[in-house]
Amino acid sequence: MVRAGLQEGILGRAVGNGLIDLQVHDLRDFTTDRHKVVDDTPFGGGPGMVLKAEPMFRAVEHVRDTRGTPDAVLLPSPQGRRFTQAVAGEYSRRAHLVLLCGRYEGVDERVSTALVTEEVSIGDFVLSGGELPALVIVDAVARLVPGVVGDAESVVRDSFTRGLLDHPHYTRPASLRGLDVPAVLLSGHHGEIDRWRRQQALRRTYERRPDLLADEALTDEERQWLAA
Ligand code: ADE
Repeated sequence: MVRAGLQEGILGRAVGNGLIDLQVHDLRDFTTDRHKVVDDTPFGGGPGMVLKAEPMFRAVEHVRDTRGTPDAVLLPSPQGRRFTQAVAGEYSRRAHLVLLCGRYEGVDERVSTALVTEEVSIGDFVLSGGELPALVIVDAVARLVPGVVGDAESVVRDSFTRGLLDHPHYTRPASLRGLDVPAVLLSGHHGEIDRWRRQQALRRTYERRPDLLADEALTDEERQWLAA
């Protein structure tokens, strides 16, 4: 799942261009028993299986020995720090990250105690494994690495980078099934287009995610306009 996900689209192209380097390791390769067992029953009893610590330690040691000490060892987990665009920005400035993917009921806590630098949650919901969160994190981080997203502006202008939700986008045709593109976008007045987009972004953020506006520097005019 992880290998396939990393080969697609912008990520795949970034690897091809040598802008980022992604390696996937299989925990089973770091077991020592004949059946390559990576999980075991929990001490204290209870449902489900726990991912063993030793294969995780050995996997990270292998990375250290072959590629140098990572700047961070991340464990995607619902118990982690909330992953946001700001956190993605932090990670994009580190040279070498390791993401550990847990499965099963949980990961032996000694992995968190002695190996992991930070647990990261991609949201308040529970997934059945760390693979999808790892892909989410890799995607969000990689596109902030300079050169990965072709038009540098599209990263700077992203919603959340600016702290607001995005404004609406339209493409041809100008009229479709009785639905018209807002006239201002066809006007060629870039000042007015920028102003309209900012207002739309503000309006949407106000209506859908008012929590985000707390940190946003609004002009007096914008505040009055929103309150109207
Ligand atoms: N693993 C399972 N659920 C997760 C979540 N919400 N965030 C990160 N890792 C997870």
